[in-house]
Amino acid sequence: MRKSVIAGNWKMHKSLKEIDIFVENILNSIGTPTSDVVLCAPYVYLPRLLDLTKGTIIKIGAQNMHYEDKGAYTGEVSGEMLKDIGVDYVIIGHSERRQYYNETDNDVNLKTKKALSLGLTPIVCVGETESEKEEFRTEEVVKGQILVGLKNISSDDISKLIIAYEPIWAIGTGKVATSNDANKVIGFIREVIKNEFGEKSANEIRIQYGGSVKPDNIKELLAQSDVDGALVGGASLNPNDFLALL
Ligand code: PGA
Repeated sequence: MRKSVIAGNWKMHKSLKEIDIFVENILNSIGTPTSDVVLCAPYVYLPRLLDLTKGTIIKIGAQNMHYEDKGAYTGEVSGEMLKDIGVDYVIIGHSERRQYYNETDNDVNLKTKKALSLGLTPIVCVGETESEKEEFRTEEVVKGQILVGLKNISSDDISKLIIAYEPIWAIGTGKVATSNDANKVIGFIREVIKNEFGEKSANEIRIQYGGSVKPDNIKELLAQSDVDGALVGGASLNPNDFLALL
């Protein structure tokens, strides 16, 4: 049985004060959710979040990392540094990074392998654009992203990572994939994993849906057989919404 994972992706949002209030609110009412809970925050806020959530069920993630441990890469943060401060998760290859910072499937591959080698859990994002969807190329696109992004990773390691299927047309738009469509694409991704890495990895790997997930649509999405949780942007910013998602 795969445990679902709800991850908030705060993107470039929040202040120290807002974070303190958010965590206080969440910890007051979180109880014992059935899912793993992750908050992915801007780098500068990670130490504060790690402090505030220490010893709780909330795990902390970054939104990106560099694949080298150190070096002359002005402005970058390495996976090794994330590990050093106690971060557990890292989003890799989010569509906004692919779109605005030209990240390629090859970069995704280097980062994912490095994250796994450090014991960080990568949340690897894949998904098609609106025009690719209209051209019925969704499967071809996500398969390509997976074959290159997860190249040369062992079957054992594959089950340790998380894939987030995020159709780009659904991110921040309010347009959500139907639960049936999300389940179909995620089922297809599981099939690709099975063919490449074997049945055990396919059964164990957790695959989330992302893209305009809200308290009022999450239940139906998570009720689908292949959907193992959600990567949530907008609705993870408000503590009440985030609690409702959990
Ligand atoms: P959204 O973002 O929930 O605001 O659509 C999801 C994401 O970008 O991970």
